[in-house]
Amino acid sequence: MPRRGARCRNGTRYTARMLELRAITRAYELGGERAGVFGVSLDLPGRCLAVIAGPSGSGKTTLLQVAGLLDPPDEGEVWLEGQPVSRLPERARCDLRLRRLGFVFQAFNLVPVLSALENVMLPLQLQGLPTPAARARAGAALDRVGLGDRLAHRPGQLSGGQQQRVAIARALAPEPALVLADEPTANLDHAHGGPLMDLMAALARERGTAFLVASHDPAVIARADRVFRLADGRQVETP
Ligand SMILES: Nc1ncnc2c1ncn2[C@@H]1O[C@H](COP(=O)(O)OP(=O)(O)OP(=O)(O)O)[C@@H](O)[C@H]1O
Ligand SMILES: [Mg+2]
Repeated sequence: MPRRGARCRNGTRYTARMLELRAITRAYELGGERAGVFGVSLDLPGRCLAVIAGPSGSGKTTLLQVAGLLDPPDEGEVWLEGQPVSRLPERARCDLRLRRLGFVFQAFNLVPVLSALENVMLPLQLQGLPTPAARARAGAALDRVGLGDRLAHRPGQLSGGQQQRVAIARALAPEPALVLADEPTANLDHAHGGPLMDLMAALARERGTAFLVASHDPAVIARADRVFRLADGRQVETP
């Protein structure tokens, strides 16, 4: 537990613990080889942007999938906002994913036939928000990520950096506790990765949301409030 009144590296106060992974093991057996993550623990308060760093195959995506309640751990427990959640029935985990988690993927995963505004409205409508309210909130989210003048554009009419900002707006519009991002800068050229991370860090501070980002991009790691390092599925203690 962070000290009362302690501060993140970004200077803001720690707020309640959003995510806690306790001794997570998720193993894959394939051709006699055992891979995955083994006994990994981390905790993440609100307002903090944390990065899971490590080489290819070190277990970053595996850990994010467990943290995102997409994949139950073999051992250990995921705590979200103070509740153990990884062994809830699929329906309850699905509901938590929709209401409390946001996801940003390397490949953006936007719906190509929908406009930027409609893409951001989608999770809000799935939550049952009436269309006018969903439209207003999605528009505000897109405005915040600098795309207020691109609401009617479809993903194919936007640059990679702009598409990823739509994905961030979509993840944040439902006001999740935690946003999980897997290699969010991997499909962007070098000049766009840093500003995208600056945007995520600013949003974490403004909204009180926690961000957990898997990446081996130095520009991403440099902007983290906390870095958790993995090697061969195990946590590497950092001094
Ligand atoms: N579905 C699966 N079946 C078998 N093995 C898997 C499966 N998913 C992941 N693995 C193995 O688990 C290990 C960790 O994979 P993971 O995708 O988590 O790594 P990563 O750190 O995200 O790598 P990258 O940086 O390349 O995305 C790898 O050795 C991988 O081959
Ligand atoms: Mg990965």
